[in-house]
Amino acid sequence: MQKNTTLGEFIIENQSDFSYSSGELSKLLNAIRLAAKVVNHEVNKAGLVDLIGNSGDVNVQGESQQKLDVFANKTFIQALNNREIVCGIVSEEDDEYIEVIGNNYNNKYVILMDPLDGSSNIDVNVSVGTIFSIYRRVTPIGTPVKSEDFLQKGNKQVAAGYIVYGTSTMLVFTTGNGVNGFTLNPAIGTFYLSHPNIKFPEKGNLYSVNEGNYSHFPQGVKDYIKYCQKIEEDRPYSSRYIGSMVSDFHRNMIKGGIYMYPSSFPYPKGKLRLLYECNPIAFIAEQAGGKASDGYTRILDLEPTEIHERTPFFCGNKYMVDELENFINKYS
Ligand code: AHG
Ligand code: MN
Ligand code: MN
Ligand code: MN
Repeated sequence: MQKNTTLGEFIIENQSDFSYSSGELSKLLNAIRLAAKVVNHEVNKAGLVDLIGNSGDVNVQGESQQKLDVFANKTFIQALNNREIVCGIVSEEDDEYIEVIGNNYNNKYVILMDPLDGSSNIDVNVSVGTIFSIYRRVTPIGTPVKSEDFLQKGNKQVAAGYIVYGTSTMLVFTTGNGVNGFTLNPAIGTFYLSHPNIKFPEKGNLYSVNEGNYSHFPQGVKDYIKYCQKIEEDRPYSSRYIGSMVSDFHRNMIKGGIYMYPSSFPYPKGKLRLLYECNPIAFIAEQAGGKASDGYTRILDLEPTEIHERTPFFCGNKYMVDELENFINKYS
């Protein structure tokens, strides 16, 4: 597919990717595209329209909800609800799943999302993102959606992607046929194919982890970080960590690197949520030739039991994740 194809043309020309759907998946991606533009418009002027700071509420995660968390959440839910494409939504910002009644439950898909990833960066003008994960429902069409529709293994995803609101705004997604990145031209509000068929580079030299938690990391992770820091000619590693997983991951996929959020304090199971942070990013990483694990098991093979459950998360160039797992497995 040549560069500068628009996202709309790309979706039409790749209809075959969505063999199961008769257009709903395309409509779903179009709804996401619209919501991304609306959120981008606000992110770019959050300081001017009183969208920075916290909303005064605490979400189910125990985090103080930022105004932009709430705005992004409402915008994506509205865009999805209005189009009667999904039968249910899970969001980081909502305790329970949201049932979409429209169309008498005849919609085929469910979507799980992190409407605003990297909330701690909103007030300091550092890039943030949105992450989404799409599945076919497993309960019968025409019946109310149930929790098992959402508690599916990541290897059942039909599509996954993220928007990164950075120096430019990009929509990156996969439907299982590779990873493609589209950059928004804000002047005309159109996403153009700027990064066709993204793949991790052969070698990587970036490692991303919150080293402030180092003393709480499992010994194998500590050993791997020391290994990265050892001064040897052929391995000039750099540490890069901005605290928005989408941005850290996106940079590492383009330049080569590994993102780590191990079990640590106060997150004994890791901080990142399996369903709407780790699974979608793991799907994209694998489609780009990378790897994602919890240190022992492939992320996409983990069996979810709770919609907001967390997992340790290691994701990046396959050989880097392999090296890390070897360090971790020395202690198991
Ligand atoms: P969210 O803003 O959606 O709650 O996610 C924040 C996550 C992730 O984006 C980021 O890499 C990580 O939290 C940062 O956590 P620390 O501040 O503990 O490093
Ligand atoms: Mn949060
Ligand atoms: Mn997040
Ligand atoms: Mn979030």
